[in-house]
Amino acid sequence: MATNRTFTMIKPDAFGAGNSGAILKMIEEAGFKVVAMKATKLTPELAGKFYEVHQARPFYADLCAYMSSGPIFAAILEKENAVEDFRKLIGATNPADAAEGTIRKIFAKSIEANAVHGSDSDENAAIEGNFFFSQAERVL
Ligand code: TYD
Repeated sequence: MATNRTFTMIKPDAFGAGNSGAILKMIEEAGFKVVAMKATKLTPELAGKFYEVHQARPFYADLCAYMSSGPIFAAILEKENAVEDFRKLIGATNPADAAEGTIRKIFAKSIEANAVHGSDSDENAAIEGNFFFSQAERVL
């Protein structure tokens, strides 16, 4: 059964453009509650660890450099069917393919600078949330 939490990042492009508030508004209006949130900046090493599943992909080095190029917001979100519903809200990885009205369609600059992250499974949502937040940093 789907769990009720997912993990997201507002990526350096959206954070730097001042779009975090507008994106958070869309997230809350879609019914998600923020149960953990912080502004932070990844080192290239931490970005590499977060995306290590993509280690063999041609875009990996650029992605790690990009994700450590500026501050981000990391957050854990709660809603029924959170992982699947959040992926629908953010849209396709490449904003050119993203549906109208999705966060990436509205705010993403490119396939790499695509405004937001959203976990792709319940298992990864838990791993990714634990990567950024201790128990004391989240609503239990
Ligand atoms: P992926 O897990 O495939 O997408 P998603 O974020 O939608 O789950 O890829 C992770 C990130 O890697 C993606 O958000 C942006 C970057 N990326 C590229 O820079 N180039 C690419 O060709 C792909 C597929 C992803």
